[in-house]
Amino acid sequence: MRLAGKVAIVTGGGSGIGRATALLFAQEGARVVVADYAPEGGQETVRMIQQHGGEALFVESDVSNAEDMQRLVQTTVDAYGRIDILVNNAAVTIPASVVDATEEVWDKTMEIDLKGVFLLSKYAIPHMINGGGGSVINMASMCGLVASPNQAPYSAAKGGVVALTRQMAIDYARYNIRVNGIAPSEVRTPMFLGFINHAPDPEKKMQELVARIPMGRVAEPEEIARAALFLASDESSYITGVTLPVDGGLTAM
Ligand SMILES: NC(=O)c1ccc[n+]([C@@H]2O[C@H](COP(=O)([O-])OP(=O)(O)OC[C@H]3O[C@@H](n4cnc5c(N)ncnc54)[C@H](O)[C@@H]3O)[C@@H](O)[C@H]2O)c1
Repeated sequence: MRLAGKVAIVTGGGSGIGRATALLFAQEGARVVVADYAPEGGQETVRMIQQHGGEALFVESDVSNAEDMQRLVQTTVDAYGRIDILVNNAAVTIPASVVDATEEVWDKTMEIDLKGVFLLSKYAIPHMINGGGGSVINMASMCGLVASPNQAPYSAAKGGVVALTRQMAIDYARYNIRVNGIAPSEVRTPMFLGFINHAPDPEKKMQELVARIPMGRVAEPEEIARAALFLASDESSYITGVTLPVDGGLTAM
C-alpha cells in the first residue's frame, strides 16, 4: 500500500475528483478526512470508504471560511494525530467573461477557488512541519495554464493556484513539505456535466470540448486521482513546485 500510515485531508471530497481521490487514498492505506460543504456527498464518500474496510471521517466545512478550516485541521489532528497529505480540491466554476461577470461571481470564485487553498494550507502546514513533512496537492486546471473561452474568474483563480503552488513549494521545501498542482482539462464529474448541460446545445458543446483534446475523450475522475496518488506518495519524492497537466494532451497543443 502506497500511503500506509498516512493521514490525508481531501476538500471537495463529496463529489467527482475529490471523491475518487479520497477512495483511492483510502484503498492505498491512508486515513482520510473528507471535507465538503455539502454533507450528503461527503458522508456518502465516507460510507463508501468504510464499506471497503477503510478509515475515514467527514467534516462539513466551507473552504472559504477561516473558522471552518481551523476546525477541519483540529478535528483531523484530534482524530488521527497528524496530517501528511492535503488535497486542496474544492472549487466552483461559474462561466463568465470579464464584461459579463458580476462582482459577486468574481468574489465568490476567488474566495472558494483561491482563498480556500490559502486558508487550509495556512492552518494545516504547521502540523505537517511538526510531523516532519508532507505533500500538498492543489487542484488547479488547464484554465490556470492556458485560456479557455468565457472563464475569466475561474482562470484567474486557477492561475493564482498555479503561482501559489510554486510559492508554497519554495517556502516549505526545507521542512520536507512538497507542494504540487494538477491541471486537468475535462473530467467527467458533476461540475463538468453541469457546465455541459448549461450550454444551449449540450451535445454540440461536448463535441466542441472533446475536439480540442488530442486524446479525443474526456478524463474519468479516477485518472486524476491516480496523478494525485503519485504526488501524495514517496514515489514523487524529488518533485515539488510543478503543476502537472493531466489533460489528454490539451496544453501540449
Ligand atoms: N471536472 C473538470 O472537468 C475539471 C477540470 C479542471 C479542473 N477541475 C478541478 O477539479 C476540482 C474538483 O472538481 P470536480 O469536477 O470534481 O467538481 P465537483 O463539483 O464534482 O466537486 C466539487 C466538490 O467541492 C465541493 N465544494 C464546492 N465549494 C466548496 C466550498 N466552498 N467548501 C467546501 N466544499 C466545496 C462541492 O460540494 C463538491 O462536492 C476543482 O478544483 C475543479 O476546479 C475540474
